[in-house]
Amino acid sequence: MIILGINAYHANASAAIVADGRLLAAVEEERLNRVKYAAGLPARAIQYCLDQAGVKLAEVDHIAIPRDPRARIATKLRFAMRMPRFAFERAQVMARFAGIREDLASASEIAPESIRAQFHRIEHHTAHLASAYFVSPYERAAVLSADGLGDFASSMWAVGEGARMRILGEITFPHSLGVYYTALTQYLGFWKFGDEYKVMGLAAYGQPEFLEEFRRIVRADGPLSFRLGLDYFTHQNQGAEMSWRDASQTPVLGRLFSPYLEKRLGPTRKAEEPLEQRHHNLAASMQAALEEVLAAHWAALATKTGEKVLCLAGGVAFNCLANGKIFDHSSFERVYVQPAAGDAGLSVGAAFVVEHQALGRPRQFVMEQAGWGPEFSQQQIRKAITGSSNGDMQLSELDEDSLVQATARHIAAGKIVGWFQGRVEWGPRALGQRSILADPRRPEMKDVLNRRIKHREIFRPFAPSIINEAVPEYFERSEPSPFMTFAYSVRPEKRGVIPAPTHVDGTARLQTVSRGANPLYWKLLRAVGDLTGVPVVLNTSFNDNEPIVCRPDEALDCFRRTQMDVLVMGNFTLEKKAALAAGAMSADGLAEPLK
Ligand SMILES: [Fe+2]
Repeated sequence: MIILGINAYHANASAAIVADGRLLAAVEEERLNRVKYAAGLPARAIQYCLDQAGVKLAEVDHIAIPRDPRARIATKLRFAMRMPRFAFERAQVMARFAGIREDLASASEIAPESIRAQFHRIEHHTAHLASAYFVSPYERAAVLSADGLGDFASSMWAVGEGARMRILGEITFPHSLGVYYTALTQYLGFWKFGDEYKVMGLAAYGQPEFLEEFRRIVRADGPLSFRLGLDYFTHQNQGAEMSWRDASQTPVLGRLFSPYLEKRLGPTRKAEEPLEQRHHNLAASMQAALEEVLAAHWAALATKTGEKVLCLAGGVAFNCLANGKIFDHSSFERVYVQPAAGDAGLSVGAAFVVEHQALGRPRQFVMEQAGWGPEFSQQQIRKAITGSSNGDMQLSELDEDSLVQATARHIAAGKIVGWFQGRVEWGPRALGQRSILADPRRPEMKDVLNRRIKHREIFRPFAPSIINEAVPEYFERSEPSPFMTFAYSVRPEKRGVIPAPTHVDGTARLQTVSRGANPLYWKLLRAVGDLTGVPVVLNTSFNDNEPIVCRPDEALDCFRRTQMDVLVMGNFTLEKKAALAAGAMSADGLAEPLK
């Protein structure tokens, strides 16, 4: 039984394939076509998934699409009558989805009628909920989805019991926590699609000076209910317009905040203007108001369901600052967030809705780690290295133990290490498969990484990976965060020990690494711990203002283009000869023992 899930014609296009109840592969199109947040038909991702299952498109039994034109049809029609432009855009989207069989056939170069799969339209938030609960390790849980808008809803909650979910409630258009966060992100001068996490990083620098005003912009108005102050927004009159041409373009969102918001909060920050304390305070106020609404929601959901476990999905589930506070504000004892909590995850969710709810099959899969994308053999890696070599790098091939020891020594010596191992991560975070690693003990490392490789806003924090066993020693909470979706406070006495990934507010967006789920990465962290006494590394994504690298040649290109010191790829290590010739001392004076 083969089920193909496809998030198409929408940002974060992706595909996933489930065979006999188990996920075999899941990947975002951006990793393959190299267009950030690529929308359109994820043709490459689909082909990769089919290849992993060893089937052709014509052999797939079910195709799950996380969009249901019939969902909330009365509300959609009401809005369409009020706003003709929206009706026109809606019609275009519907036409696109209606033609998906033809588009799929064309991408696979087969006749449309040879696709024998049954097509399933899965409501957007049902797919979100499923993407979290059905792959979680829990037999019962409360489940919550919150994002911008999908199928005219912005939030939905349910109880999961075995292979079923029972929907309990929803918040519909125009009220949306995702729209709230995106609108204010734009107001603060961050207009690129997906910039919300930057503002989350900024919030730590400010005080919630404007919280009273923000409580008018968004507020809880009863258990399990929230409202936007609609005067502050435009989407209720103009729609939340997302435009893109095809999979070759990053989507663009139209302006979501109104002139009234500027009247109340002051002028918009232009993208090129410097960030001032006022902006920091606005970001802090925005985050604080969001957390108030979420806290009320978590508490009410815990009370209503009596469940001890919460599974989260939707873009809001990436708010790791808020997630870290769930345990303080509710009676939930465990929280599960799968690594692609945003719209990419819809392909997995839709496939599992078909598996369990449409076909009634039992659960037998748990997503314990994030490597569901392409991997490359030692031979393929060797070929890529040999093909690109011009004698400027020193190459070694090592057995696993020696590789781990050598990498740990490089990190401890202050080198910046590209770490390319196994299958590409599912979701936006590098989690030890396509990561850049560095020594967390060096306070200057954040600036050095930014200057030499990442070139990103200086206020954005870097994150630590830590072995499970050491979490209680370093953090004030020890609940697992295997997919970097929680920020916890670093213990005050440890903030000076791992200064590079500790944010200005004393928190860190940690990845907890278990030996069972990620054995090679755990082994590396353990080796770093043996050398330095600190089983932690700074872990940032392997890229430089591009989608995270997928293939060996992309890693080599990023390695050459930037001032990374070492690349560890499969069992190979590469060091730049120029850096070696300059002695162990790098330009930053980093490659020396830490006193
Ligand atoms: Fe969504």
